[in-house]
Amino acid sequence: MSEGRKNRGATRRRPASRRLPGDLDAKAQVQRMIRVDHAGEYGAKRIYDGQLAVLGRSPAAPTIHRMAEQERRHLARFERLVPERRVRPTLLQPLWHVAGFALGAATAMLGERAAMACTVAVEEVIDRHYARQIDALGRDEADLKAMLEEFRRDELEHRDTALAAGAEEAGAYPVLTAGIKAASRLAIWLSERV
Ligand SMILES: [Fe+2]
Ligand SMILES: [Fe+2]
Repeated sequence: MSEGRKNRGATRRRPASRRLPGDLDAKAQVQRMIRVDHAGEYGAKRIYDGQLAVLGRSPAAPTIHRMAEQERRHLARFERLVPERRVRPTLLQPLWHVAGFALGAATAMLGERAAMACTVAVEEVIDRHYARQIDALGRDEADLKAMLEEFRRDELEHRDTALAAGAEEAGAYPVLTAGIKAASRLAIWLSERV
């Protein structure tokens, strides 16, 4: 039997007109991506604000400032995209304002290495999150895709910077990072929906 015959009847892409009721259309899907990414970059900025409130005069300060500066740039790009794409921002922004800062400050109070462990945990979750979005975006969203690829590279750089700064030597590193990763995943899940 020829390959062509064998594959006949294999799964085909579902045409737009036959989407299941629960499916989001492409536009809504992109809006949801922008909503959660905007929320995430906002949260990232607040984490670094919290870290700098505690560690602003420590030897780690210049490193944290550099990463914080990039997060501000990421956030600024999403702040422009939100009105451009008519995205409703997450209703949870006031929560991320407080929770991001609290997470940053609390880990910083545990020490510079714990602050770096927090960065590793968050960036690992964000890396996978951006990778999934990049995969899901079509060719018609090439600009957005390129932007996410750029941000993803920045986030991986933050993770590597934090690892180089001794993140893994933080006390209770596995427990600390597992907790922060779970919280970050929950924050993503909520910001996509609320
Ligand atoms: Fe970022
Ligand atoms: Fe980052």
